[in-house]
Amino acid sequence: MIPKKGKLYKHWGLDPNTVFLNHGSFGATPIAVLDEQDRIRRLMERDPVHFVERLSHEMWQDSINELSKFLNADSGGMSFVANATTGVNTILRSLNLSKGDEIIVPDHAYQACRNAIDFVTERSGARTVVIRIPFRIDDESDIIDPIVSAINDKTVLAMIDTVSSPTGIRMPFEKLVGLIQERGVDVLVDAAHGPGIVPLNIRKLNAAYITGNCHKWICTPKGSAFLHIRDDRREGVKPLTIGHGYSSDLPSAEKFRMEFDWTGTRDPSPWLCIPFAISHIGGLINGGWEKIMNKNHEMAIFGRDLLCETLDISPPTPDSMVSSMSSVEFPWDEDVGPAPIDGDPIHNTLFDEYRIQVPVISWPNHNRKYLRISAQIYNSKEDYEYLSDSLISILGS
Ligand SMILES: Cc1ncc(COP(=O)(O)O)c(C=O)c1O
Repeated sequence: MIPKKGKLYKHWGLDPNTVFLNHGSFGATPIAVLDEQDRIRRLMERDPVHFVERLSHEMWQDSINELSKFLNADSGGMSFVANATTGVNTILRSLNLSKGDEIIVPDHAYQACRNAIDFVTERSGARTVVIRIPFRIDDESDIIDPIVSAINDKTVLAMIDTVSSPTGIRMPFEKLVGLIQERGVDVLVDAAHGPGIVPLNIRKLNAAYITGNCHKWICTPKGSAFLHIRDDRREGVKPLTIGHGYSSDLPSAEKFRMEFDWTGTRDPSPWLCIPFAISHIGGLINGGWEKIMNKNHEMAIFGRDLLCETLDISPPTPDSMVSSMSSVEFPWDEDVGPAPIDGDPIHNTLFDEYRIQVPVISWPNHNRKYLRISAQIYNSKEDYEYLSDSLISILGS
């Protein structure tokens, strides 16, 4: 039977007949944040011209400032994009690559972002250097050493995740950014799972580029992400969409704002909800965001340990490399091949027969299937116990 919901579940409009263990894929937006988005949209539609001309600039700048404060970033380099895929593409497609240049990417990277690297290297005669990293990690050096030792005088960029998507590993990105950049190579941080899941201090991190989603762990409406470009790299980056700002004769800081802020008519409400969402979610638990991240981390460890016990395997990484998501190997003896278009059969069974929403990811890079759990404050221990019982019943042990 579907377990009883956690105390904070009522703040989300999630289907009560589903056990939702996949916050990681697309987030989930609380009712109050959706109401705020509705309020903004209604305000806009009372008089769209007045909204764009008079109201939206201040609201937009307020969102830029609040997110910059939350992430300790220079607001002058903060811009909004629809999602992390767009952020990654914006940087890669602004690079002037030469034949022979190399871009480093670990094999745990998100495939869409890896594809964007391949696209720019293939069209310019440059090379994508894929670093093989095991799934089972004893300590950070298993990740750091192969990446750092792949750097040579042809390396121009490395793309490093904060938390890897298929394998759910909290990467040692702070150390990696330092070690890579001190060797003269820029880092593009893919923080798709960034704000609200790991502490981010963008000034301290000092990466040339970082992009991240707000619609995952800050729970804003979908289509709200950021791209932050360090001061010394700003002039070289253009938004994917060239608009009015390109021909504007403005000082560079204002031109940057105009080029990135006005890329044509669109609904700005997902980004304008960021300040409300930061404050709303942060207010749901005493202790705010730090406590939320710790609580989710502890819950993910609880769920992972239970799954490991159920599947009779040991935890694949030290606890410090778990954020609010964790993947474990799903028992599977055959070649995994590419992910089936109509969904992984185990995922489909878990959803159709047990009403559990949890990803089972075929990862051809490692020829493994991973089952990845997420923990958000609406989840309860019973959710993971129910998943574990359902797996026992599916696997028949
Ligand atoms: C590491 C990583 N990068 C990029 C993305 C893409 O995010 P979006 O679909 O919001 O662009 C994801 C999505 O889960 C991800 O996990």
